Amino acid sequence: MIITIDGPAGSGKSTAARRLAAAMGIPYLDTGAMYRAVTLKALEAGVPLDDEEALVAVAAGTDIRLDCGPTHVRVIMDGRDVSEALRTMRVSRHTNQIARVPRIRQILVDKQREIGRRLGSLVTEGRDQGSVVFPDADVKFFLDASDVRRAKRRYHEMCADGEDVRFEDVLQNIRLRDGNDRGQWEPLLRPGGAVCIDTTSLTIQEVVDRMLEEIRRARAGRE
Ligand code: DC
Repeated sequence: MIITIDGPAGSGKSTAARRLAAAMGIPYLDTGAMYRAVTLKALEAGVPLDDEEALVAVAAGTDIRLDCGPTHVRVIMDGRDVSEALRTMRVSRHTNQIARVPRIRQILVDKQREIGRRLGSLVTEGRDQGSVVFPDADVKFFLDASDVRRAKRRYHEMCADGEDVRFEDVLQNIRLRDGNDRGQWEPLLRPGGAVCIDTTSLTIQEVVDRMLEEIRRARAGRE
């Protein structure tokens, strides 16, 4: 069974995806981590982020392995554990410059489909999972929340990770990324047939419960 969860930054999709996958006993895929890994590599290599050819070469030449468990996402890039390095503000700020390059998206979309084929069943989250990567997914979700609520979630996560950040900067970053995500190059689409959940005033458990209910309904409808 393939379940997709799409939505903007801070909509709660990573936590929901992780918990949902654990509840269903199937793997989970964090596709944002793949875009972040390519960004980290480009930044470390000093590749100018407006040099499309060089960026595509970086993406094509990067080995990314993900181990997405119920309590963690471990990302191994070219044999190195970069799980923490991917979450810094610097990487968050620049990832949209990578994610907007169509050829890079194609490389990562191919990798995601290959992971889907290999695993058979998974919960996958990102911006384009239900619309582009797995259009035939069994159940599709689209999560959203107010920008202030999303920034608060991100801020608390970053503080818990020991990052020294100001709430105002996180909010500004969320708004900037919204502009990019929902702009011209648009990876964030609400897939047709997706179940939309506004998570602004829901707990994570309530979100997961609603998802499980929808999945039960979808399964029952198919029997
Ligand atoms: O979900 P996240 O914050 O880890 O995503 C990081 C960046 O990658 C963000 O700028 C959106 C982009 N992204 C994307 O374009 N497509 C995806 N499937 C996942 C993430």
